[in-house]
Amino acid sequence: MAKLWAGRFGKETDLEVNDFNSSISFDCRLYKEDITGSMAHAAMLGKQGIIAKEESDKIIEGLKGILADIEAGKIHFSQDYEDIHMNVEQILTERIGDAGKRLHTARSRNDQVALDMRLYVKKEIVAIKKEIIDFMEALCESAKNNLETVMPGYTHLQRAQPVTFGHYMMAYANMMRRDVIRLENCLEGMDDMPLGSGALASTTYPIDRDFVRQQLGFARVTNNSLDGVSDRDYCVELTAALSILMMHLSRFSEEIISWCSWEFKFVELDDAFSTGSSIMPQKKNPDVCELVRGKTGRVYGDLFTLLTMLKGIPLAYNKDMQEDKEAVFDAIDTVKQCLRVLTPMFSTMQILKDNMKKAALKGFINATDCADYLTKKGMPFRDAYKTVGQLVAQCVREDKSLADLTLEEYKTHSDAFENDVYEAIDLKTCVRGRKVIGGPAPEEVTRQILVIEKFVSEHETV
Ligand code: ARG
Repeated sequence: MAKLWAGRFGKETDLEVNDFNSSISFDCRLYKEDITGSMAHAAMLGKQGIIAKEESDKIIEGLKGILADIEAGKIHFSQDYEDIHMNVEQILTERIGDAGKRLHTARSRNDQVALDMRLYVKKEIVAIKKEIIDFMEALCESAKNNLETVMPGYTHLQRAQPVTFGHYMMAYANMMRRDVIRLENCLEGMDDMPLGSGALASTTYPIDRDFVRQQLGFARVTNNSLDGVSDRDYCVELTAALSILMMHLSRFSEEIISWCSWEFKFVELDDAFSTGSSIMPQKKNPDVCELVRGKTGRVYGDLFTLLTMLKGIPLAYNKDMQEDKEAVFDAIDTVKQCLRVLTPMFSTMQILKDNMKKAALKGFINATDCADYLTKKGMPFRDAYKTVGQLVAQCVREDKSLADLTLEEYKTHSDAFENDVYEAIDLKTCVRGRKVIGGPAPEEVTRQILVIEKFVSEHETV
């Protein structure tokens, strides 16, 4: 098959090179962005009189037909035309003749692919945001139903202080909020239209870049043609933001995996979101969570693929940059897939409140409150801390909890203890008392939910 550049060449491309060079197997997913960009470019060429108006109209009609046929599954792309850009141009020329050959006037595949990727990433950021927002809504819903569900909070995976399941879920909602903001910042920072950069040095034709910008819905046009074709910062920013998001989802998954174990048994996954074992009849495994945790590595890998691919290439376009696509696509696909299973898995998961309560009653998670009790009676905190440490040591020796000690026993450690100590170390009191901003008290978590719900309603996309 004669290449577009056959004029310059005396031989056909080696078959292995042909396959090696070709990106159509993966960049075919940019067909819509490619055609949309070409339509705006053709309209501009016609408006500026760079090509005849009739030819511009013909190109746009031709491109519309190709788009419809691709979506109807009627078009087969060919490796011989290397990538989506040349495939579309080839099909267009087959269909409308000479006018098709004028489409590439004042354009290069270098600014064309830069445009396609930006359009695609912009679209996908909106789609991913929607998935995150859905997950945030599920977290808020669960938090509302678990304002009083006391559970142990941990540090070093040791029972530490009482929180509620609602409070815990809102921690993740706040992480997701930052993920949304990071994606929005990425979108805002990449909203520059690169067409007109040409191969690297722009063009001598009297193009109207701002018209194309408006047609395609960008905020700005790129400010330097060399940078316009070389910039993939937004791909790095996107995969960095997605890596952080996956790190959050992975931590969340890790918690659920622990909580599903018999050692915790805080939650039970719905049968539809668990898997069994081929040999052990009793097994119910949290495979979804393990896969989310595992797939986090892929997305980190995608980020590093991009950073490494970009670090050594001089300006302007180099073919290395074709490698941006699979990394970006993989990160986007992986994140969407993970969120789409994680949200319904979470919403259908059973919360085993009694088991959380049982765990909360063991492990002295009210010890800080016991020390605070003495402090509020006038004892310096360090002395109170030491006194309660001795009480805890006694309880450990006698296999008791703080609530099991008699007032006499308390009094042997300090005269400040009165009957109201039992109320003070009751887990409900401990949780309700932590009503400062950020704390686990039900009224405070309700406020936290309202903040997130407001954010969600302001950042929801249709
Ligand atoms: N398929 C190429 C890519 O994805 C398009 C740009 C090719 N440009 C070039 N000068 N070979 O990067």
